[in-house]
Amino acid sequence: MLEINQLHVRFRHVHALRGVTLTAARDEVLVLIGPNGAGKSTVLNTVAGLYKPDIGSVRMDGKELGCKPPSDVVRAGVTLVPQGRRLFGSMTVRENLELGAYTKNEPADIDKKIKQWSDFFPEIGQRLNVRASLLSGGQQQIVAIIRGLMSEPRMLMMDEPSIGLAPIIVKRIAEEIRRLNRKSGIGIVLVEQNVEFALMVADRVAILSQGQVVHISSPDALRNPSLLANYFFGSSID
Ligand SMILES: Nc1ncnc2c1ncn2[C@@H]1O[C@H](COP(=O)(O)OP(=O)(O)OP(=O)(O)O)[C@@H](O)[C@H]1O
Ligand SMILES: [Mg+2]
Repeated sequence: MLEINQLHVRFRHVHALRGVTLTAARDEVLVLIGPNGAGKSTVLNTVAGLYKPDIGSVRMDGKELGCKPPSDVVRAGVTLVPQGRRLFGSMTVRENLELGAYTKNEPADIDKKIKQWSDFFPEIGQRLNVRASLLSGGQQQIVAIIRGLMSEPRMLMMDEPSIGLAPIIVKRIAEEIRRLNRKSGIGIVLVEQNVEFALMVADRVAILSQGQVVHISSPDALRNPSLLANYFFGSSID
């Protein structure tokens, strides 16, 4: 269980997070949505140890992560798949995956992990020796996810996994993320701008606005355009 409690983050004069409290369990996909600049990426980056919180705590299975460096956060079981995939296009898929395995030193362990996830995502398993730049956008997103899985997380965070993908591919990625969560027991926290994708993939949706969580519910409760429009563009909702 990931527990984020009363998190405040400031960047000089921008008070980006203003008391964010959220929990995410391992048997669910939690999706954060909200307008540009709401603080969604800041939540993930702070949990990942890239930013230091001013106040508040982040715990994974009871262990405090709040001021730990990113490598310690990974070792504690929480890994971030960054926005934009960030693969090395001239390297093979296998070489990209090996880069994610930095909690492991033994080549045999790394091979075992690659085999495990190649079996789980066979479309990628068949392309391990192909240069990453030659894969489709959807395949590259799966490679970025597997690279994150190489560090054996219990909680995997993703920043806008649907960005730049065609609608039909977005649906596939949503299905793969749900299958990953259900079959592996790895909790998923992801941030999205694409509301349709968010409602497809989520077990619970949290809406962030101006650095605060303003709504949490099942996706069904949000299949209401006027409600969503209010959170994204309006100022009051009662
Ligand atoms: N490294 C940083 N330095 C200074 N300000 C930052 C930094 N990262 C984020 N901010 C500011 O914090 C606020 C929240 O930004 P954040 O990137 O978390 O929003 P977001 O919800 O992810 O937006 P988007 O949907 O555009 O990705 C914004 O005002 C942003 O300008
Ligand atoms: Mg963002």
